This record gives sequence, C-alpha cells and structure tokens, in this order.
Amino acid sequence: MTLPPPAASRHRFPPDFVWGVATSAFQIEGAADEDGRGESIWDRFCRVPGAIADASDGRVACDHYHRWAEDLDLVAGLGVNAYRFSVSWPRVRPDGRGAWNEAGLDFYERLVDGLLARGVQPYLTLNHWDLPEALQAQGGWAQRDTVPRFVEYALGMHRRLGDRVAAITTHNEPWVMAVLGHETGIFAPGIRHRATAMQAAHHLLLSHGRAVQALRAEGCRAKLGIVLNLSPVQPATDSEPDRAAARLEDGKLLRWYMDPLFKAQYPLDILHHLGADAPRVAAGDLADIATPMDFLGLNYYSRSVVSAAGPWDVHTSGNPITDMGWEVYPQGLTELLLRLHRDYPVPPLFVTENGGAFKDLLQDGRVHDADRTAYIAAHIDAVGEALRQGVPMAGYMVWSLLDNFEWASGYAKRFGIVHVDYATQRRTPKDSALWYRAFLQDQAARRGDGPGQAALAGPAGLADARA
Ligand code: FCB
Repeated sequence: MTLPPPAASRHRFPPDFVWGVATSAFQIEGAADEDGRGESIWDRFCRVPGAIADASDGRVACDHYHRWAEDLDLVAGLGVNAYRFSVSWPRVRPDGRGAWNEAGLDFYERLVDGLLARGVQPYLTLNHWDLPEALQAQGGWAQRDTVPRFVEYALGMHRRLGDRVAAITTHNEPWVMAVLGHETGIFAPGIRHRATAMQAAHHLLLSHGRAVQALRAEGCRAKLGIVLNLSPVQPATDSEPDRAAARLEDGKLLRWYMDPLFKAQYPLDILHHLGADAPRVAAGDLADIATPMDFLGLNYYSRSVVSAAGPWDVHTSGNPITDMGWEVYPQGLTELLLRLHRDYPVPPLFVTENGGAFKDLLQDGRVHDADRTAYIAAHIDAVGEALRQGVPMAGYMVWSLLDNFEWASGYAKRFGIVHVDYATQRRTPKDSALWYRAFLQDQAARRGDGPGQAALAGPAGLADARA
C-alpha cells in the first residue's frame, strides 16, 4: 500500500467534527491488584490454559494506571479533540454491588481532569467487557439482576464525573460480549451455550435503555449512546443459498441490535431461527431498550462475506489483509453508514473505533507503518464520503492510541498508532500518529482556525518522534 500525503483527504470535515483516539481499561491500565481493584471476568479468563494466544494477561499491560499523564500528553500532541476510554467497573466498585472504591474513582477523576486541562473532551465508556467477577459468579449478563447493578454503576459514575465528560457510552459491542463470550466462548466469561448468549444480549440491551433513562432522570448533560460492532454482510455469490446465509448473518449481527434499539422490536426471522434459544423478554423491555439516545457509535474494521458452503476465504478478495486476518475494505464503511441512515431513524453517528493490526518494526526510534496509515486515511475518506451523501456523521476515532492487550490474541497484535515496548514501557509514536496529526493540522488550516496548534507544539512524545 502506498502512503498518502498528509493532506490527502478529498473531504473537508465540519468545524465541530469530533476527532479522537480510543483505548479501553483492561487493555491498557495494568495495576491489576492496586488500590483496591476487584477481579474482572477477563482477569479470570486469562488464567484459563489456552485462552490467550501468548498466555499473557492484563496485569501490567501498558501500565497506563501509572503513566496516564504521559499518555494524555501523547493524546493532546496528536491534536485530537476527544479521547475515548473506559472505566474498569471492578476498579470503582470491586464486587459490582457493594462499597465503592474511592481510590479507583480518584483515578478516573484525575484522568478526566487531565484531559480537560489539555483541551481534550472525555468520551467515557462504562462497559468495555470487564464485568466484576463477583457479578459473574451470580450469573453475569445472563442474569436479569445484573441490569439494576449496571444502572447503579452508571449513576455512580455520573455522580462523580457526569459534569465533566462529553459523552457516556453504556456498552461497547454487545454482540461480542454475548456471542464471543457466551456462545463460542473464545472471550470471557468463556461460556458455550447459545440460549445463554441470547439472554445475555437481551440484558445488555435492556441495561443500556434503563441506564439512559436513569441518567436522564438525574439531569445528565453528557451525550448518551451505545457502541455496536457492525459490518456490511455480503453474499459470496449471487446464489439464493448464499443470499439467504447473508440475510441470516446480517440479522444476527446488525438487525438483532439495531431493530430493538431503534424500532422497539426483535427481527422476526431471527426469533424464528433461534426457536427455543430466543431470550425471555418481559413486558415493557423493548420500549425501555428503545429509549432515544443522543448518538450511536460504530466500530468498523472490515466487511463480512458469507457463503452457504462454509467459511469464505478472505484471500480470494485480492484486497490487503491485516495481521488479524481481516480484509481491508474501506468502501464497506460508507456502505454501512448509508444503510443505517436509510433503514433506521439514527441519531448522530460516530465511528468510535477503526484501525488495523500490522506487523510493525521499531527501528532507530521510528515505525514506518505505511499500511496502517493507508488504512486509516482510506477509512477517513469513507466517512467523508458518507457525510457528503447526507449521513449525520459526528466523529471518527482511531483504534488505538497505544499497542495494547488484544484480548484472546494477547500482545502479539499491535493496533496502536503509538508503539509500546513492553519491556521498558517506552512509547514511540509511529508514522501513522504523525500522519494523523498532520491530517488534523491540515483540516484546521483549511478551516482557517487552529485548534490543537498549541498542543501540537508542546508534548515531548511527539516532538521527539519528529526529530
Ligand atoms: C474491538 C474492541 C477493541 C479492540 C478492537 C481491535 O472489537 O472493541 O477493544 O480489541 O476490536
């Protein structure tokens, strides 16, 4: 792939467009036993033999719990105006239902104040997968009682930080937590039972709606929303069996979440397909799930191609493939955004994650990650194209600020635009970080204003990398 020049975007984004970078608590914080943090389902899952490709865990990760100030300097140095991070539920309420942990709350207070001091808007996610293990012991997301526990957690965080965060996301990727966590079992809590997975998905959606209602009732001023992992699902061929397989997959991945959130109903074809594995839904649940929200976040990495005959080989596409084995398919993002806008009454949309894992080489203090840079530039263009065609796009965030713990893949897969040397915890901005900064500078220059200019000149991390 060729490296696009910094000013390459064909699109001019509006002045209030939100540009960010994203991380999540379990993937970067470390400090697993410090200051009263409780155990999460991912701490437990990492100890299951064979669960994590490199047998690693999140005990130290990027040591962000101690290096947060340096990391926020890197964020500010990029010239972004938003940082998406998540709170570790067991750090702030170790057993998920009892006493709150002041030391844990203080950490997020420092983080949020640190962002505001640097002119960066905090985008807080409540649940990026690290459920307190104590709640899992009671049944976790498959148990309806976890719904009120989540609402209490949302209210507790709002009381502490609600006046200072720009946005609160309830859940990150309910499909992943439900299906990969409870049906295929490749993610925590490692359950393999479809009916349990569908019940968990229902409780995740219900707790989202109930939390939004409770936060509104408290007068929350932050924007409220949820983040879904969505892909356009395409049939491998035009044959009727392939098209039917693609419809089914689209129903399980996209409509199962979008329909209840925006139409207060589950898709009938999927209910039918699930049969006895369909979730128990109480009267009023769907109306609660469909509580209006202020934004919808999408995490986009690739398209999904489905063949009735079995798994489709990405290599037949002829497109570049990332280190995760995911096809690079930026036009799928435009397609997906147009479809959401056409089929649902969507609020403003954010791409809350987008990026690629590639094999990086750190040499003489530089990482020439032309493939990652090209990936990000092409997807920003895809967002610009959707905007041009009338989709209410509000923001774009790169996954991720730092190389980090990539769940079942451990530390072998690197998504960061900043390289992390895990032996020394040294951070080195990659060429993709320098490109992103230059791109944002170019957008600001075209607008004739200079937000971020002061920050750009400042922090040492990025200044070093320029030398
Ligand atoms: C998403 C997750 C995020 C990261 C990326 C690569 O599914 O939300 O934490 O692992 O994938």
